[in-house]
Amino acid sequence: MTETVLRKLERRLGGRVYARQRLGIESDHEAQIFGQGLNFFHIENWYSIHSLIRILLKLTGLYWRGRTNAARVQVRHNNISFKALPPEFNGLTLLHISDFHADMNDGAMRRLEEILPELSYDLCVLTGDYRGATFGQFGDALARMRPVLALIKQPIYGVLGNHDTIRMVPDLEAMGIRMLLNESEPVIRTGASIYMAGIDDAHYFRVDNIEKAASGIPHPSFSILLSHTPEIYRQAAHAGFNLLLSGHTHGGQICLPGSVPITLDSVLPRRFGAGAWTYRDMAGYTSTGVGSSIVTVRINCLPEITLHRLWRADTAVHQ
Ligand SMILES: [Fe+2]
Repeated sequence: MTETVLRKLERRLGGRVYARQRLGIESDHEAQIFGQGLNFFHIENWYSIHSLIRILLKLTGLYWRGRTNAARVQVRHNNISFKALPPEFNGLTLLHISDFHADMNDGAMRRLEEILPELSYDLCVLTGDYRGATFGQFGDALARMRPVLALIKQPIYGVLGNHDTIRMVPDLEAMGIRMLLNESEPVIRTGASIYMAGIDDAHYFRVDNIEKAASGIPHPSFSILLSHTPEIYRQAAHAGFNLLLSGHTHGGQICLPGSVPITLDSVLPRRFGAGAWTYRDMAGYTSTGVGSSIVTVRINCLPEITLHRLWRADTAVHQ
């Protein structure tokens, strides 16, 4: 990495430790992938696993249907009521897009480009995984993201996923995404504020810091946390967040009939694996994601983007 990017990152992150941790773990990960480490059995080392899944799906006649499904992006609607939502934000609509894996999902990206101009929303949140692989170059992913992002209305908030490198941050911010790296920012409407916070990846890199992300939020305030993975649902609820928006699981991506996931790639009870859920006083939502990873197929689990509409609990009329 060039000194310029490192310096930009350190300036952006306001310190050296977090940038060094993230970059250090990224380079250890790449070393493992390319055989200098001990983790021979890491999934990314099974170069044949992609072909194995492809062959199995072809043998069962599911491959081509799965390929088509990967581009059948659904628009899902999620209405949520909160006692604590300030009246000024009643009806606030958030467009939520997760798991682009943009460089390996051209079909889904094209569909997204058709859908986006039709949608009406107040702000957009992106919950990570912009890149297809977990290592290597990221230019192709950014190049495929660019025309999609040009169709999304500001403001856009984002967090990094376990497929992303922190080196992408300056480019993502130049595209207009306010990346929340264990940070928060107020959203202001007619003089009232709610807070949008975001943490770095808690699944693989584990450089998430909820305490730091929450530290700038005055109490009491209505607050939303963006996290790539929902695995931190307990920490988020007990930190006082009202809503947790996440992705990562892909809803299983290849599921048994009835959308039953074979794996969620997470340490997570099944009920948090896709769609709306609650935990204690916190509402949550896990997006099945707009893109697919490992192999660009979806079986019994379609890709989605989501419109979350936030209502005050005492509001009688929901749309
Ligand atoms: Fe993902």
